[in-house]
Amino acid sequence: MNAPELASTALSLVAPGKGLLAADESHATIGKRFDTIGLANSETARRDYREMLFTTPGASEYISGVILYDETLRQKGADGVPFVTKMQKAGVIPGIKVDLGAKDLAACPGEQITEGLDGLRDRLKEYYALGARFAKWRAVINVSATLPSETCLIANTEALARYAALCQEQGIVPIVEPEVLMDGSHSISRCEEVTGRALTHLFNKLREARVQLEGILLKPNMVISGKLCKEQADVQTVADRTIRLFLRTVPAAVGGIVFLSGGQSDELATAHLNAMHVQFKSLPWPLSFSYGRALQAPAIKAWAGKPSQVEAGRKAFAKRAQLNSAARFGKYTAAMEKG
Ligand code: 13P
Repeated sequence: MNAPELASTALSLVAPGKGLLAADESHATIGKRFDTIGLANSETARRDYREMLFTTPGASEYISGVILYDETLRQKGADGVPFVTKMQKAGVIPGIKVDLGAKDLAACPGEQITEGLDGLRDRLKEYYALGARFAKWRAVINVSATLPSETCLIANTEALARYAALCQEQGIVPIVEPEVLMDGSHSISRCEEVTGRALTHLFNKLREARVQLEGILLKPNMVISGKLCKEQADVQTVADRTIRLFLRTVPAAVGGIVFLSGGQSDELATAHLNAMHVQFKSLPWPLSFSYGRALQAPAIKAWAGKPSQVEAGRKAFAKRAQLNSAARFGKYTAAMEKG
């Protein structure tokens, strides 16, 4: 493990005003996004869509790295130039999703375990050779009146820790993502309790696995009301409860925190990040974004799969990237959404 190299990659990924674009949807997930615009899910369509995002002029001012799916890491643009080369030229760091998805967790009805550890060392070696300098592994934690079980939290955080140690061995910064889902009618207090349990298990497991905390990025959910909860916490409350929980549970040595958007609207995801920076001026870790849907939703809608609307798609993507960049300085306002 090259500790200074890992810490330096982590630092570049959370450079001031910059965040990550999560564009690592599996074929099935990108297919669902294409369904919303009536587009067939072909390799060419996936290439064209992602090429539009990756070649948006000026985006590298706000985007430090992009999380890719295996196909995209190996893919070339329409001009025959590999996407990785294009990113490297623009100063954007390529990353790779390495988990193989969440499967049913035996003996734990309604819960899932993320797979992909077998053979991971060799896959990481190949990904490094292909240009990836960071990776992502997502654990999924369902919330109900009785879930999650301790079994689920222990199994998933153990897998995250083993993944993180393997990444660091191979010179790759692991993004460690324990996602407590927003789905359900649970309150923000329940989300806070479950997220706290998940983070406590996670950092115990990371320590046991000898993971160097300066060389990881944590990708958490915010502390937020369940989607179907009748009482939706306001922006200030989400910001306040998220940061206060993290101050209690996330070690100061962690290289950075990059939030997932998890089904929040694009505007709310930006407003929440902004409010955290407005309310907390001095934090132990850089606080940024690693949004998928919240960065892409307006772009895919504006593009609609039409070559004639590529510029509109790029404009929509650049706008969200810029607004999230402003949120990193606490300088975002709702008025910026117009225009
Ligand atoms: P969302 O921001 O859409 O949650 O996606 C981020 C991500 O990478 C989830 O694994």
